Amino acid sequence: MEVERVQTLAYSGLNELPPQFIRPVHECPENSKPIEGIKVPVISLSQPDHRLLVKEIFEASNQWGFFLIIDHGISPSLIKRLQEVGQEFFKLPQAEREAYANDPSTGKFEGYGTKMTKNQDEKVEWVDYFFHLMAPKTKVNFNFWPKNPPSYREVTAEYNMEMLRITYQLLKLLSEGLGLSGKILESHLGGEEIETEMKINMYPPCPQPQLALGVEPHTDMSALTILVPNEVPGLQVWKDGNWVAVDYLPNALFVHVGDQVEVLSNGKYKSVLHRSVVNKERMRMSWAVFCTPPHEALIGPLPEIVDDQNPAKFSTKTYAEYRYRKFNKIPQ
Ligand code: SIN
Ligand code: FE2
Repeated sequence: MEVERVQTLAYSGLNELPPQFIRPVHECPENSKPIEGIKVPVISLSQPDHRLLVKEIFEASNQWGFFLIIDHGISPSLIKRLQEVGQEFFKLPQAEREAYANDPSTGKFEGYGTKMTKNQDEKVEWVDYFFHLMAPKTKVNFNFWPKNPPSYREVTAEYNMEMLRITYQLLKLLSEGLGLSGKILESHLGGEEIETEMKINMYPPCPQPQLALGVEPHTDMSALTILVPNEVPGLQVWKDGNWVAVDYLPNALFVHVGDQVEVLSNGKYKSVLHRSVVNKERMRMSWAVFCTPPHEALIGPLPEIVDDQNPAKFSTKTYAEYRYRKFNKIPQ
């Protein structure tokens, strides 16, 4: 089926937003502006005092469910190359991109995508994306990865190695923050079977950004999401009843605590509510890596932190079931 791409619409000389993009009044960014003077936590992973690092990660994950990491050891040139190959993909001729079109309605999630409305009242987001699995190797189908630009695969595979390294490092710090062995979260999330998925979000310039959203408010169902944006700001996170805008910080990675870590930690770590807003003149892009358990992993509050005084706040279920419920808006 032919899908209308936001990119095509954006560059067709549109002055007014089509109705399916216009948010209800209370949701419009112009009526829910971020609060000023509050900044998200920024954490150096090279902090030499290990106990202090554990404390910083604990507090950010407990109070925000979100933080930026710097001094993470990923070379700025790798981040730059990742961004270049993604940008080049979105500059390919439309027909070449369409060869990768996905179809979530038939379970084909990987590939080039744009959300469509299912009914008249439903609103859609001002974004096109590219989505594919990166790890574990045994589950990856490289046919879903763009062949063009030619270095896409090599660069993305290299970036994935870095994402796995950072994921295991963060899971260790988060485990220690709960007063538990450094391996506990990793092992509950599948150990070497932990999956990584790449989602490249492309938000074209929007004629009426004050009325639309790039991505509507949501929490990620992943364990962790590690995102790198281009230089155009747009991400906002929810903290104590306000939206807080996340400033661009060159080469910093944006870490979101996702639903699976919230469940495993029995709510000690918060899955952060977030949204993104769009821009009138500039294209925004972001590269989100979702770190998830394998579908069959059973996820529930860690037995080590649950007792009579701290009863389980979440039920235990497979990640596949969690995912099915979240997609179909069935309460967990
Ligand atoms: C998302 O949360 O889905 C995207 C956030 C972003 O682009 O910064
Ligand atoms: Fe998200």
